[in-house]
Amino acid sequence: MITLIGLSGSLRRQSFNTSLLRAAAGMMPEGATLDLRTLHGIPVYNADDEAATGIPPAAAALKDAIAAADGLLLSTPEYNNSIPGVTKNGIDWLSRPPADVKRVFGGKPVAIISASPGGFGAVLSQTAWLPVMKTLGASVWAGPRLTVSRAGSVFAEDGSLTDGTIREQLKKFVAGFVASLQSR
Ligand code: FNR
Repeated sequence: MITLIGLSGSLRRQSFNTSLLRAAAGMMPEGATLDLRTLHGIPVYNADDEAATGIPPAAAALKDAIAAADGLLLSTPEYNNSIPGVTKNGIDWLSRPPADVKRVFGGKPVAIISASPGGFGAVLSQTAWLPVMKTLGASVWAGPRLTVSRAGSVFAEDGSLTDGTIREQLKKFVAGFVASLQSR
């Protein structure tokens, strides 16, 4: 069984990126599961707080979940042509303490997707993640690029992915990522 963590980079209730991962969870190939997680409960990073009370429970739980999974599927929003602060803050907590980075991210297969109501599908945010993942020692999957643009017309009010073309792309994307893990 291949187990994936699907991590949404948005805290928004009606988040397009969370909806995209929910759709992915519903189209996983046989023999694979996707466990959807968010960054809720992870505070703003402050080294004084870390020194005083250690890693927040929400971050510690997410670290363990990623460490135990075969791969990570990150769906990232884009703010001001880069990674939103909330999303980067979450990953920064997951990278603490440095001695634990290898356990959580070392060689971890990571696939990155994104959604945006704009015309470019948050492609610049996907690119901005590359040096971060490199620094963490993760292994970014070099599969096809999946960017969902004009997300307002791709998802229904209830968050379901209604665009047939994107559904097909997403299905192929997750199947490809899972296949890459099965052949490792
Ligand atoms: C945005 N948004 C945005 N979108 C984009 O494609 N490129 C960008 O550079 C930005 N910049 C940006 C800055 C700030 C401060 C905000 C609040 C928003 C719009 C963004 O894509 C939109 O809010 C999405 O809905 C965020 O993703 P979720 O929350 O739907 O997953």
